Amino acid sequence: MKLPAPLFMSPVGVIGLCAQDGHGDLATARAAARTGIPMIASTFSVDPMEAVAGEFGDTPGLFQLYTPADRKLAESLIHRAEIAGFKGIVVTLDTWVTGWRPRDLSTGNFPQLRGYCLANYTSDPVFRGQLTRTPEEDLPAAAAYWARIFGNALTWDDLRWLRSITELPLLLKGICHPDDVRQAKDAGVDGIYCSNHGGRQANGGLAALDALPAVVDAADGLPVLFDSGIRSGADVIKALALGATAVGIGRPYAYGLAVGGIDGIVHVLRAILAEADLIMAVDGYPTLADLTPQALRYCT
Ligand SMILES: Cc1cc2nc3c(=O)[nH]c(=O)nc-3n(C[C@H](O)[C@H](O)[C@H](O)COP(=O)(O)O)c2cc1C
Repeated sequence: MKLPAPLFMSPVGVIGLCAQDGHGDLATARAAARTGIPMIASTFSVDPMEAVAGEFGDTPGLFQLYTPADRKLAESLIHRAEIAGFKGIVVTLDTWVTGWRPRDLSTGNFPQLRGYCLANYTSDPVFRGQLTRTPEEDLPAAAAYWARIFGNALTWDDLRWLRSITELPLLLKGICHPDDVRQAKDAGVDGIYCSNHGGRQANGGLAALDALPAVVDAADGLPVLFDSGIRSGADVIKALALGATAVGIGRPYAYGLAVGGIDGIVHVLRAILAEADLIMAVDGYPTLADLTPQALRYCT
């Protein structure tokens, strides 16, 4: 896949709620269509994945999968993503249970438990078939059932099964150790996604950027996506110089959406790209290939 710029929008479940009209997944997809910057659509969505993919225009999009405990449901979600036209499946590994999140706890806020952002589940025939009453009749019961089947601590054996059920490129998100990269390569994945979930999972954990060089080394030519803490064009350049193939942003575009809707996201993306472009010009790196770890050396 060749993209106009090495930038993408990371999956943000609840992005739907960040828009004033409550349809932030669609707004993000429309911003992707306007800019050519891909969106990775989260499993957690206010609008079903088919509606989100329908707004991508010519920009490719990826589907992020939180693999449910129920394999039949996982297969259904993946096959729907294939039919909807997503260009790859990103399996997130670092969130089978959520980390300790004091802000969420202090407001008693976990939107999914209140039935929000579950459209990919409530629109799914397998999920619906497991309920005694439809989500339209009893949303709290559907949300309670979702909470029971959400968490799944995947093992490498699950990866072989995931690989066997789709022809789409498969990427693993949340990888920070070179041994895991090598295992993933052996199991036939198409891309590695180095991330610590924006620091939201393991408080005090390793910075994803510090893990990146060894991950790139172990990937040995396999594409490496990167996110966590990217806030500017300068940050993008640093990650690229350390070997990332493409760099993702999470919270910055969510803020853009909350403040300015689709225009807000487009503004954030363009500002980051403009700064990255100017840094390359100012520092004399004419192409991405010229951005190597040497670009980050200290002058002595
Ligand atoms: C509110 C919020 C929701 C998120 N939801 C998901 C999700 O549904 N799936 C996922 O793989 N990552 C999710 N992430 C993690 C992002 O994909 C990404 O790894 C992280 O936000 C990058 O860090 P940054 O926000 O510092 O740019 C979420 C992050 C935030 C802030």
